Amino acid sequence: MSKREHWGSKVGFVLAASGSAIGLGNIWKFPYIAGENGGAAFVFVYLICIAVIGLPVLMAEILIGRTTQRNPVGAFRKLSGKPFWTFVGGMGVVAGFVILSYYAVVAGWTIGYLVEAIKGVFNNFSSAADAETHFNNLVGNVSWMMGYYTLFFVLTMAVVYMGVKNGIERGSKIMMPVLFFILIILVIRGVTLPGAEAGLSFIFNPNWDKITGQSILIALGHAFFTLSLGMGAMMTYGSYLSKKDSIPGSSLQILTLDTLIAILAGVAIFTAVFAMGQDPAAGPGLIFHSIPFVFASMPGGYVFAILFFILLALAALTSAISLLEVITAYFVDELKWARHKVVISMGTVVFLVGIPSALSYNVLSDFHIFGLTFFDLADYISANILLPLGGAQSCCLCRLDMGN
Ligand code: TRP
Repeated sequence: MSKREHWGSKVGFVLAASGSAIGLGNIWKFPYIAGENGGAAFVFVYLICIAVIGLPVLMAEILIGRTTQRNPVGAFRKLSGKPFWTFVGGMGVVAGFVILSYYAVVAGWTIGYLVEAIKGVFNNFSSAADAETHFNNLVGNVSWMMGYYTLFFVLTMAVVYMGVKNGIERGSKIMMPVLFFILIILVIRGVTLPGAEAGLSFIFNPNWDKITGQSILIALGHAFFTLSLGMGAMMTYGSYLSKKDSIPGSSLQILTLDTLIAILAGVAIFTAVFAMGQDPAAGPGLIFHSIPFVFASMPGGYVFAILFFILLALAALTSAISLLEVITAYFVDELKWARHKVVISMGTVVFLVGIPSALSYNVLSDFHIFGLTFFDLADYISANILLPLGGAQSCCLCRLDMGN
């Protein structure tokens, strides 16, 4: 068997892991859940969840990966030798299939929106309602939806196909600095808009009344999601570290970068949303309905809209590759398949699994299971069931191991 690949450098690992962590969760989901749950008060609860629960789970996952040099299934089997834990690792691989299948749908929209931005479509909007209608028309169009969904999948598979060092690490080293640079430009644009203070006060002045048990749960679930915890993504990336690499330092860097980007994305988005008089609690459509209109109405909006959607697409890509890498590592380690073969075959399987989610906004919009569309069901099962369970179990196993 060929030798296990390792990261070329520590910076490469930190950037790749941050690339996994920083994704649609930070730029699409975090701002809208913060918007719906009272702004700064929610951000405060979220920061506590990240520090108290996110950091230990992150370290546990990377440590399990580095120690065992295996994918989640192999790692859990090696540490415990018990079928139950092997099953827990397997749940992570299944979660990879489920998350990637719907994540790629939203990721496809980001590329589609980049093209809309380049075409200058947003400049025709005279109200947020126009932007919303436009969104509904686009996602209702099967070929638009499937086209960008497929394109995003091909990009993700191409990076993973090239391998850990030449694909994931090299890609992250290029994409992450670009992402950071674009975000800084957008933050500067946001805070210099007249009326930006209202946005800043929204994310920095807490409104405690909005904090309920439910919002604490959302903050907790999001802490797992945003750090890519609970399904072995960080474990798999950790397995490409060599035994001498230190974990607490890297974990803290990954966590800091992820949190910083989420807060900066919040600043860029809410300053613009408030300055243009839009509703901060617009929900999942915030990025796709409100933001294009916000750009349409601000000076220089054409360029900023393009930058914004490049930012989103890059963030989505570096996260999606980590999801596909968990699946790939499993088939390479356990079944001894060649990486190329796994990426092509399993990538195609995930692609097929995601088609019902992609069609949830058009052909299958009336098809519900437990009252949810395929898309919402995939989101619900992964974020609320698979990830928290997987995260808790990684910690239990880590403790068992430490105790031996
Ligand atoms: N963390 C990414 C985001 O915030 C999403 C992600 C990538 C993820 N890999 C994961 C979430 C593994 C859970 C598990 O967008």
